[in-house]
Amino acid sequence: MSGLYQRLQNKPETGPSTRGSFGSGPTTRSGSPDRTGGSPSNGTPGHDRSAVRNVTVHKPVSPAEAAKQAKEDQHRAIKNTIQLRLINELDASLLQGAEASEEKAFEIKQKIMDMLREEEGVPPLERESVCEALFHEILGFGPLQPLLEDPEISEIMVNSPTQVYVEKKGKLTLADVQFNDDKQVLQIIEKIVAPLGRRIDESSPMVDARLPDGSRVNAIIPPLALKGPSITIRKFSKDPFKIDDLVKFGTLTKNMAMFIEACVRARLNIVVSGGTGSGKTTTLNVLSSFIPEDERIVTVEDAAELQLRQDHVVTLESRPANIEGKGEVPIRQLVRNCLRMRPDRIVVGEVRGGEALDMLQAMNTGHDGSLTTGHANTPRDILSRLETMVLMAGMDLPVRAIREQIASAVDLIVQQSRLKDGSRKITHITEVQGMEGDVITLQDIFIFEQHGVDENGKVIGEHKPTGIRPKAYERILYSGIRLPDDIFGN
Ligand SMILES: Nc1ncnc2c1ncn2[C@@H]1O[C@H](COP(=O)(O)OP(=O)(O)O)[C@@H](O)[C@H]1O
Ligand SMILES: [Mg+2]
Repeated sequence: MSGLYQRLQNKPETGPSTRGSFGSGPTTRSGSPDRTGGSPSNGTPGHDRSAVRNVTVHKPVSPAEAAKQAKEDQHRAIKNTIQLRLINELDASLLQGAEASEEKAFEIKQKIMDMLREEEGVPPLERESVCEALFHEILGFGPLQPLLEDPEISEIMVNSPTQVYVEKKGKLTLADVQFNDDKQVLQIIEKIVAPLGRRIDESSPMVDARLPDGSRVNAIIPPLALKGPSITIRKFSKDPFKIDDLVKFGTLTKNMAMFIEACVRARLNIVVSGGTGSGKTTTLNVLSSFIPEDERIVTVEDAAELQLRQDHVVTLESRPANIEGKGEVPIRQLVRNCLRMRPDRIVVGEVRGGEALDMLQAMNTGHDGSLTTGHANTPRDILSRLETMVLMAGMDLPVRAIREQIASAVDLIVQQSRLKDGSRKITHITEVQGMEGDVITLQDIFIFEQHGVDENGKVIGEHKPTGIRPKAYERILYSGIRLPDDIFGN
């Protein structure tokens, strides 16, 4: 979305001060010139903004330009006034979903027109276009709107009103947008969570929500967030990565891809392990795509992110408690319920707690070929995480019994990492082989070996097979799948 002034002038923007911000002051930052934040919607793709800025600074200001500047400032002031008045005077329920409802939209536009008539400074002929621009800016997500619309941006992080980071192609950069103040950040949060029947305030200062397009939002405010309200948005990918994309990115090799496809088809139980943002969900989605079309799949998630292309899929999503603290349906309850739904495969978005026990039991009792993810940094680490999660189920099981349960349930661990250069790699494909005494035995089948980093900070390394033929190879053969003879490096 471009700024109001740009629309008024009907020309591409050249300064950073208007786009995507209701800021009354200029949003120019004296930040580093190599900053690549900002969206292509600024009308000048590939333009070096700092260079433009410098040129403008050195040019003498003509009277015409000064007048233009004054007009621009005035418009911005009017825009701010009207936005404030709308928020104060309009019922929040009217603002919700107004873009979808013609009636609501009409009512709000009437209101904006009334206000524009009261304000001096917008000539009658321009009122309609100003009204239109305001409507969209007020109903969109303010300064975040251009970032949300930029398909290259995968994540948006608001640390403070003046510090908004984005992730673009795996790299974090400071974005070229700012909020006026904490209050404006809070308004955006309220706007995101209100339609979902949730609220954010001092008594419930944390909230998870979803945007209408499926993007996931977490917001946390003072007193928990010390620097002010903070927002993190994981954008919903309209076109999720496929296995070929991951191979192209170097996340794994063709051979590794062939191997994990064989494992899914041969109904191995697989856990994708990794840190936050390491690409677990993306990999889980790719693994799920290998499930044959004639199998019934039930997915269970906290926030529906998986996008399966198969027909026979039932999608379940947990529900947080409502404002009165009632009605919560946790993942665990859904996992149990899905066992009564005659699934051929169970796909659980992420195990975090007691549901791990139900998941392991399902894996051990005929629902083989189930898939899930968990938060851990190494294959060994995910085993102890699972152990802890099972304990969280409150069943008071002896550790040895839990380990046996894990060892017989989980066949394969796919360990994923986000490396320093922003790339995502599958660093281990590890087979769970069984128990030796009290210890679960693991065997790496493929690993990523890092050799170092090049002068641009890019990680250098290679994926390799370890030379070990997995025990599950028999099962793969039995299910009629043939892999290249040398795939395991022997
Ligand atoms: N293999 C990959 N290569 C590059 N980017 C990836 C890869 N996998 C995921 N991503 C990106 O990383 C971000 C986090 O991915 P996601 O799968 O949601 O991670 P997690 O579930 O581990 O938190 C997303 O923006 C996604 O597009
Ligand atoms: Mg995830």
